[in-house]
Amino acid sequence: MKSDINISVIDRSGNEHQLSGPTDMNLNLMELLKMSEFPIEGTCGGMAMCASCHVYVLSHHNLTEKSNEEMAMLDESWDTKDNSRLSCQLKLSASLDGILVELAPEQ
Ligand code: FES
Repeated sequence: MKSDINISVIDRSGNEHQLSGPTDMNLNLMELLKMSEFPIEGTCGGMAMCASCHVYVLSHHNLTEKSNEEMAMLDESWDTKDNSRLSCQLKLSASLDGILVELAPEQ
């Protein structure tokens, strides 16, 4: 069974990068972005309490529903769009394969 998924990331300069992420290590997208040295802080450690891991999802993927905590956090961000997600709330799984995300502006 394939355990790595492909993820495309557009950085804050508009450049696109290809990442490969393992689905068998219980990682979320914020952790993968940090490990790949994108300027994502992940200040709250993935608790949906800081929005420093905010991304825009540009592809059409069936994602898990936003929790109340995630919705509340995004509501407080000035640059939230309809396709905003907190990347720490997106667990790396087969359903994310081929996803395209863009880093939101720094908070
Ligand atoms: S790391 Fe804090 S909300 Fe995602």
